[in-house]
Amino acid sequence: MDVKQLLDILSDGEFHSGEDLGVQLGITRAAVWKRLQYLAVLDIPVEASRARGYRILGGMNLLNRDQIISTTSPDARALLGNLMCLHEVESTNTFLLNSGSCGDVCLAERQTAGRGRRGRQWFSPYGRNLYLSVRWHFDQGVTALEGLSLAVGALLAEVLDQIGVANIQLKWPNDLLCGGNKLGGILIEVGGDLTGECVVVVGVGLNIFMSDVLRDDESAKINQPWTDLKRQGFSASRNDLCGAILSSLLPALSNYPAEGFARYRDRWESRCAYLNQPIKVILPTGSCEGVLLGVDGQGALRVATKENELLFSGGEISLRSAL
Ligand code: BTN
Repeated sequence: MDVKQLLDILSDGEFHSGEDLGVQLGITRAAVWKRLQYLAVLDIPVEASRARGYRILGGMNLLNRDQIISTTSPDARALLGNLMCLHEVESTNTFLLNSGSCGDVCLAERQTAGRGRRGRQWFSPYGRNLYLSVRWHFDQGVTALEGLSLAVGALLAEVLDQIGVANIQLKWPNDLLCGGNKLGGILIEVGGDLTGECVVVVGVGLNIFMSDVLRDDESAKINQPWTDLKRQGFSASRNDLCGAILSSLLPALSNYPAEGFARYRDRWESRCAYLNQPIKVILPTGSCEGVLLGVDGQGALRVATKENELLFSGGEISLRSAL
């Protein structure tokens, strides 16, 4: 059901009568009512008053393409392709993997099949968080991209620092944590020729204004303790945050083949969660325990076990504290 235009009107937080909504949308009052009911399905709380009409208390900060572009730095704007702000999409990563050009950016208010690492779902409620993907083309194959997902994590943590959200930690390979709880994650996917001209989609999910109460089916999609930017004192615009992220990310992608992970290694390690602490590395084939030493020049995880130092890389590995 198309509720985008209805939300554009109600996002101001003011009351609008059913009649006015019908006129503005060019639909019957019954059709307005159906759309309003669908907002409840999207978990968007609409207040109804017999005398005054309908409103979304506090309004909604919807994605706005022009505002995002205007807050993106000129350097990044020069690298930006098509910037799409979708109402709803299966997954912003899938969308850009299937089509697009270098520098295209896809954002959505909601993902119906948002994806996390290791085949997990990514909880993507309407209008509350950030679901952002960037498509980039590299012609040196995937080896030139080693450490890219860690580099993106370091950049995001720095952007959040700049807007006043301090103490972001990075959990290998690419979780953003705050106070030990998950704030966001990065999913990088590659298509094309892995040894030559390849397409990379960098997907970023950041919790911003999560509901205070999640239904059981929603909690089930999040398999770990979480937090969001609102709980860290953030109250600015999602659009400004997108602009700040693109200002950092697009130039970094453009320079990555020349600079590589070397430029990011110290920055990543300075925020490394569980550094010098006992951890458990969970692999598809089993697990291993040791002390987290940091990462190597390619972004691989360095772990000191009782016997020796081991290096771990690859998408199917995760780690947790063993304290
Ligand atoms: C993780 O921590 O597991 C990675 C989560 C990545 C989620 C983002 S949201 C935007 C983009 N589209 C997706 O389907 N996934 C990524």
